[in-house]
Amino acid sequence: MLPPNKAGRAKIIIAKYKYKKERFFLSKEILMSITILGIESSCDDTSASVITDGVIRSNLIANQLVHQQFGGVVPELASRAHQQNIVPVVDAAIKQAGISPSDISAVAFTRGPGLLGSLLVGTSFAKGFALAQNIPLIEVNHLQGHVLAHFIKEDVNDTNQPNFPFLCLLVSGGNSQLVLVKDHLHMEVIGSTIDDAAGEAFDKCAKVMQLPYPGGPMVDKLAKEGNPTKIKFAKPRIEGYNYSFSGLKTSFLYHLRDELKTNPNYIEENKNDLCASLQHTIIEILMDKLHQAAKNLGIKEITVAGGVSANSGLREALVQYGKKHHANIYIPKFAYTTDNAAMIAITGYYKFLKGEFAQHDITPMARLGL
Ligand code: KG4
Repeated sequence: MLPPNKAGRAKIIIAKYKYKKERFFLSKEILMSITILGIESSCDDTSASVITDGVIRSNLIANQLVHQQFGGVVPELASRAHQQNIVPVVDAAIKQAGISPSDISAVAFTRGPGLLGSLLVGTSFAKGFALAQNIPLIEVNHLQGHVLAHFIKEDVNDTNQPNFPFLCLLVSGGNSQLVLVKDHLHMEVIGSTIDDAAGEAFDKCAKVMQLPYPGGPMVDKLAKEGNPTKIKFAKPRIEGYNYSFSGLKTSFLYHLRDELKTNPNYIEENKNDLCASLQHTIIEILMDKLHQAAKNLGIKEITVAGGVSANSGLREALVQYGKKHHANIYIPKFAYTTDNAAMIAITGYYKFLKGEFAQHDITPMARLGL
């Protein structure tokens, strides 16, 4: 066979070069504009969010008020409400973002942990949406979402993000954990509650004072008018960086039982002090272990995440800690503390960058660790 003449070779090389350049251009174009639709339905909030290149475009949450009358989430009712809410919430999130479904690069959904019936609604919707749009599906661990909420940008110039490695105090209704975050997708749980979560302690103690569910926000509000050191409650002595809140709950209950014997109006007359002292004890327990871990690991970047991070006392304690120990403290916006789809979308964004996609036979997991 004759060797190709020089002109022929040159043509081929130019064609290859053009082809490569075009591919590069295309992939660059994709990298520059990744739009993720996030879906969150792990408990009693139906949420949808759109994030483009890490910048928030919409984050809508439909709360389910139906549970209030029962003093806690009723799983069966939660699944039904998700079924009713999911289509209008996603539709509104896409409209508010000012995009059309065809602009979405991938759909990220909460796989777990959470209530199975609730998770099934979000998972099934996400699969259907991904199939209809012919886009990738991304599974997200709800807890990872809480940790990564700090990376949601308000605009392209938003650079207020923690540096790796950082410590995250993850405190919600179902979790109290200390997480060492090495990278967006690499996290190590270094401490966990051995019984109840901090949010549970807030909620259950609030319940015995007959405060509405969820009790955390109401305890926070009443605590502002009370004396945080008036009543002493039990604090745990647990090894390592682990937490425990069941002893505090029992101590709170016994205190009320004893006081109510002599004064049936004790709760009503001391509600503010009870809330302030309870909140103070929970914060001390949380901050003690956080301090130990930060000191031992030599970490000065500290974040807080999860529903309990909305607590004003905890936020203030963290700010004071930062000042005292010259640490950088990152506190999420209120909108990203409780369950929301923006944190699912941002996690989806980082998984998209790594090409971590899910198959369509994926199923939700009620129990899922970090
Ligand atoms: O993260 P989250 O919305 O749901 C999960 O558990 O996944 O957290 C809910 C928890 C509830 O226990 C609620 O009482 C608590 O967060 N919470 C608060 C405050 N706002 C919400 N706890 C204390 N103070 C608050 N301001």
